[in-house]
Amino acid sequence: MNRSWKGITSLLTGATLLLLIPVANADGVEASERTDSWKMTQGGKIYDNWAKVVYADTSQFDTHPLYPKEGKKSGATTWRCKECHGWDYKGADGAYSKGSHFTGIKGLRDMVGKSTDSIIEAILAPSHGFTEQLIPAAALSELALFISRGQIDMDQYIDRATKKAHGDPQKGAAFYQNICANCHGYDGRLLNFDKAPKKEFVGTVAQANPWETLHKIRNGQPASPMVALGMLSIQDQIDLLAYCQTLAAE
Ligand code: HEC
Ligand code: HEC
Repeated sequence: MNRSWKGITSLLTGATLLLLIPVANADGVEASERTDSWKMTQGGKIYDNWAKVVYADTSQFDTHPLYPKEGKKSGATTWRCKECHGWDYKGADGAYSKGSHFTGIKGLRDMVGKSTDSIIEAILAPSHGFTEQLIPAAALSELALFISRGQIDMDQYIDRATKKAHGDPQKGAAFYQNICANCHGYDGRLLNFDKAPKKEFVGTVAQANPWETLHKIRNGQPASPMVALGMLSIQDQIDLLAYCQTLAAE
């Protein structure tokens, strides 16, 4: 088999496999048996894109009422928590302090350690636009647990100016090859997140947006079979991120 055919076959196998893997449905686990660790990463996925996790169709949504007029985004994407509060949970004080995602809205770092009840109350504040019809009660409490105990201070692990992770890529390689490569390929180029011929791979995202990548390493990818590694030590996660930054960007 020549090289390009091999590439196409492995791409097709990857794509077919992904279609065949069902996305885990928490209904199979008694509520009392769901660990806090699982609930926190589930909350992280909700923070990333709640509509995908609760299977809501937000495609026709108008721009969120709190989204600033001068902001560069519109429609459904302005309803994602991360769009206003940031991948680093620091809002206007973090990576979204400038650029196409700037909103000037504060982050959620003040909520660390707060009771989930008080966080749910803040999420459901009338001006905030969210209701239990949009985000059901169980999802709200997972989201609140994530905000109280699942978020981290990303500036401790990622240099804001250079975007470099403070990790050892050689240590991270073992995690990548044993876990991530199964879906993303050893060189990270098996799954393209953009529409061909444009290219966006693990390496592309890890270099351009290490905060998003770290969030996804910890919490997984909404509505996909991707794993969540929030229960590894933070240094293991950062070593893995550092290795992802060495993968091909295109
Ligand atoms: C369109 C922008 C926008 C989106 C989307 C958004 N928020 Fe907010 N959020 C705000 C604004 C504005 C405030 C008020 C900040 C202030 O008090 O200055 C706020 C406040 C909060 C607070 C209280 C923070 C504090 O320190 O008092 C929490 C918690 C919160 N949001 C969580 C969320 C969650 C969870 C989501 C996703 C379900 C979300 N937000 C989506 C704009 C947004
Ligand atoms: C079981 C398969 C699977 C595993 C294992 C897996 N992923 Fe993923 N990952 C996916 C899928 C599917 C997507 C979504 C692809 C898409 O939206 O086109 C994804 C998306 C991503 C994205 C972001 C895409 C975006 O929205 O920009 C990153 C970054 C990522 N994975 C990194 C990793 C890392 C790092 C690991 C190892 C810890 C990993 N993945 C393990 C299946 C997997």
